[in-house]
Amino acid sequence: MEFTPKEIAPLASIEDWEEDVIIRYPEPHTRAKEEYRNYDNPERDTVREFYRLNHKFQTYDFVKQKQAEFLKFDRTEMPIWDAFEFLNTLVDDSDPDTSLDQWQHLLQTSEAIRADGHPDWFVLTGLLHDMGKVLCLFGEPQWAVVGDTFPVGCKHSDAIVYPEYFEANPDSRDERYNTKYGIYEPNCGLRNVDMSWGHDEYLYQMTKDYLPEPALYMIRYHSFYAQHREHAYDHLLDDHDREMFEWVKKFNPYDLYSKLPVPPDTEALKPYYKALVAKYLPANLKF
Ligand SMILES: [Fe+2]
Ligand SMILES: [Fe+2]
Repeated sequence: MEFTPKEIAPLASIEDWEEDVIIRYPEPHTRAKEEYRNYDNPERDTVREFYRLNHKFQTYDFVKQKQAEFLKFDRTEMPIWDAFEFLNTLVDDSDPDTSLDQWQHLLQTSEAIRADGHPDWFVLTGLLHDMGKVLCLFGEPQWAVVGDTFPVGCKHSDAIVYPEYFEANPDSRDERYNTKYGIYEPNCGLRNVDMSWGHDEYLYQMTKDYLPEPALYMIRYHSFYAQHREHAYDHLLDDHDREMFEWVKKFNPYDLYSKLPVPPDTEALKPYYKALVAKYLPANLKF
């Protein structure tokens, strides 16, 4: 399927999606969630357009096609440190609100996790979790890189942000896919469920042989807000998923709320993180 430039990049910056998530799920005791749908912001229209495109185009077939395209990992291969630099070229000058680059978001997340005394693989997860956004640099549409993720192949939950936009998704009129369970069995476990395509699944597949399972759950489902915040897909989870989602929930505040007033000193932290990366990951990662 071919997309127009406006369909590929509705947002000035892909960070606008995460900014919007923080407004939807504000840090406890800051702002009431009810305000989410009403707040006035000129960026709001682009975010809404982003969700419209995401909900329209993320079909079961689209996901299968992206899996076939990207999970061969035959594009390129690079040391993880080069990948961080590559990811950082995503900084968008057209968005003056994005004061932090990708690398700073990753480092702030990992430093906040480290400050709380969590295991080193949890810290590493913070450092890596958005690496999959390199998909944007491969020319992928923003709505196929970021955005809330959700299961495909079964009914779209009303708990997903802007559920009305799913009306334009052909799967919602397809009898195979528009029932509660669709192509899945009750409580079949998320390992048997295909999620909408984006940076979460891509990085999970890239790192699945190297990290402990809780880390992999955090990576794979960190944008699955309909489940880890709204519990809308309990009927697809098995007991193991439920156990592992405690980690996904533990991770989420670090992702959303760990913007430190003073940015971490990248150079000073490099030796620690280089050693941490070397402990768990191979010299090169395949993209
Ligand atoms: Fe993310
Ligand atoms: Fe993130």
